[in-house]
Amino acid sequence: MEIFDFLGEDIITEQKIEKNKQLKSEKQQIKNELHKQKVVQKKKEKKKKIKQQKYEVIQTLETQEQKNDFVHQFKGLRNQRRENGIKSLQSPFKIIIDCGFEENMSDKEQRSLARQISELYQENRKLDIPLKLYVTNIYPILHKYLEQYHYKQWQLISDERLFIDIEEFKQANIVYLSPDGEEELQEIKEDEVYVIGGLVDRVIMKNATLNRSRQLGVRSAKLPIGQFIKKNYKKCLNVSTAALMISGWLQYKDWSKAFDSIVPQKFKEQEAEMQ
Ligand SMILES: C[S@@+](CC[C@H](N)C(=O)[O-])C[C@H]1O[C@@H](n2cnc3c(N)ncnc32)[C@H](O)[C@@H]1O
Repeated sequence: MEIFDFLGEDIITEQKIEKNKQLKSEKQQIKNELHKQKVVQKKKEKKKKIKQQKYEVIQTLETQEQKNDFVHQFKGLRNQRRENGIKSLQSPFKIIIDCGFEENMSDKEQRSLARQISELYQENRKLDIPLKLYVTNIYPILHKYLEQYHYKQWQLISDERLFIDIEEFKQANIVYLSPDGEEELQEIKEDEVYVIGGLVDRVIMKNATLNRSRQLGVRSAKLPIGQFIKKNYKKCLNVSTAALMISGWLQYKDWSKAFDSIVPQKFKEQEAEMQ
């Protein structure tokens, strides 16, 4: 009798665990769906806002000729972004976002990574010297989040493989950018390929990319930004900002100017607050 009671309790506990698991997964599905709706809604609102702004500007113009010119310029800007996207694929400056950090990120951080990659893609299309972007090691959950931004339609190269397994990079001169890098990056060279860790870590993981570069047997380097950031403050930029620092250097050939133009004011203010 007692054995049956014991077994019965085991079965009930197992059922409870199973039910909890199911509930958790349903909750996650609802959360994902809500997030998806939010992204779509935001996109719609942005489109509406642009349309409204366009309309308002047209209202201020007096002649039909001025209105036509404006519409023409507006279309031109859109086409220019598209053209820049195509131009980026021919750029000699190659940047890889290595997304091999799934285990180190929460679901929220993975979503944030997808958003940052999308931001980087959009910003890159506005640049005079666009970078050729590669997003590698894309795993299923990240693919799902990137899909919300329709990344398969983007003008960049996405791949599920680790970058060192891609033929193009087997003989390449790779520099893994890491805030804990062994050397300081002096300049950006056409014959080097720069890798950014596709990692969003709210609590900074020390040496995450340094260790990865060592495991992969590639050089590591830090951006020389320590001198622009006050002592004791983190020298760690997010994925899109770190990549854009490269475009900043290409523009100014000067790290200080690149830092001033690329690093968001918000980040600099936080720095001050931390002192
Ligand atoms: C949010 S950071 C991740 C920091 C992580 N703890 C690590 O060890 O790399 C995202 C990526 O941006 C690049 N990055 C950020 N700050 C950098 C710096 N000061 N120097 C070089 N790369 C940097 C690195 O590639 C880094 O992996």
